[in-house]
Amino acid sequence: MSNYISIIDVKDHLGEVITIGAWVANKSGKGKIAFLQLRDGTAFFQAVAFKPNFIEKFGEEKGLEKFELIKHLAQETSVKVTGIVKADDRSKFGYELDVTDIEIIGESIDYPITPKDHGTDFLMDNRHLWLRSRKQMAIMQIRNAIIYASYEFFDKNGFIKFDSPILTGNAAENTTDLFETDYFGNPAFLSQSGQLYLEAGAMALGRVFDFGPVFRAEKSKTRRHLTEFWMMDAEYPFVTHDESLDLQEAYVKSLILGVLDRASSALDVLERDAELLKKYVAEPFKRVSYDDAIDLLQAHLDDADTDYDPIEHGDDFGSPHETWISNYFGLPTFVVNYPASFKAFYMKPVPGNEERVLSADLLAPEGYGEIIGGSERETDYDKLLNKITENGLDPADYDWYLDLRRYGSVPHAGFGLGLERMVTFVAGTKHIREAIPFPRMLHRLKP
Ligand code: 4AD
Ligand code: MG
Repeated sequence: MSNYISIIDVKDHLGEVITIGAWVANKSGKGKIAFLQLRDGTAFFQAVAFKPNFIEKFGEEKGLEKFELIKHLAQETSVKVTGIVKADDRSKFGYELDVTDIEIIGESIDYPITPKDHGTDFLMDNRHLWLRSRKQMAIMQIRNAIIYASYEFFDKNGFIKFDSPILTGNAAENTTDLFETDYFGNPAFLSQSGQLYLEAGAMALGRVFDFGPVFRAEKSKTRRHLTEFWMMDAEYPFVTHDESLDLQEAYVKSLILGVLDRASSALDVLERDAELLKKYVAEPFKRVSYDDAIDLLQAHLDDADTDYDPIEHGDDFGSPHETWISNYFGLPTFVVNYPASFKAFYMKPVPGNEERVLSADLLAPEGYGEIIGGSERETDYDKLLNKITENGLDPADYDWYLDLRRYGSVPHAGFGLGLERMVTFVAGTKHIREAIPFPRMLHRLKP
């Protein structure tokens, strides 16, 4: 343990003398008084130093020296600060620290990120420092709350964590977005999703989930795409697709509740409307079939406030279509039964309609895009083998996956949630690059 008190715990020490270890985020004041905005990663907090107190405590010369040191502290200097915790209504926190002593731990010279505005490229180049800002800290706290709530939800619902490999011999989703690497003279791929392995896990352990980094060599430069992101996949046997949707809905609600519960001050920092998030928890999510969604899009194409391209039955949605659909319903919306033609090979057809599959994408409201992709899986050996061949994949790579249909195949379904999409949605940030500590994108591998 540490002798330092975390800023987040200062409230438990009203009237006491405490010592905190922190960085100077900002400072102000004049004459006999200096204000320091301190941060230690847990929160931001104001410390106040009065010149007369220092002179009284340390004598004229040393007291003045200490006070001048405080007044001239550079941004991001690390300090050990001792003081008395006082209630103060003017402070956002409700408390502030009346400084009695301060020591510099580490100097900071010419910190590049000043309180003025900076361009995105500059901030991204300095991502290792940008993470210290109030807003970035809040987003990371929301990310943490979502991860915590995710583990909690799965544990409560009888799921076991089953880790899928990252190096694989076969494509899980498609062959166009694969990162290939050399594996002792043979090609290997970075995992696009743990799903296929989770299906093996579901046949061994029942309800399983994984959570880890996945990789897609997406050349698209959008606000929604990373080349490395974290996915949570879940898989469960003896379940229908409708039951899976119920579970997905409960899952997403539990993640939002987890953030409201554990990171509400982070939502305040980001000025995210908590009432709106509460509404998403309180109301049932919408469910619409892909074909009905296309009908709606076609019917509203010429509305004054729409700006999406014309779309036909059988076409994939672009993000303007997804945005319109979720705005139309104003709630998280499942679009179900997509065309088989642009979905992955493992999905089970809708009974009586080979052209549609038992799949669903969950579209977040407010234009945050798809946060979950899921489906019921093909259980029949021959049909799955056909799909693999039709998709131009080599059945030899999938022999182990096909085995799952040879030895006690059962109905099963699952889904994958993109963590950074969820963070972007809950935090209300515009771009996915802020939802992960060190984003990997088309032109970004550093820092
Ligand atoms: O819809 P996707 O491709 O589904 C799968 O990978 C399934 N195997 C999951 C499963 O059934 N177990 O990806 C799942 C989610 C998407 O809904 C989206 O939230 C996110 O992963 N995602 C991305 N997030 C950031 N950057 C990208 N390039 C993403 N591609 C997908
Ligand atoms: Mg998808």
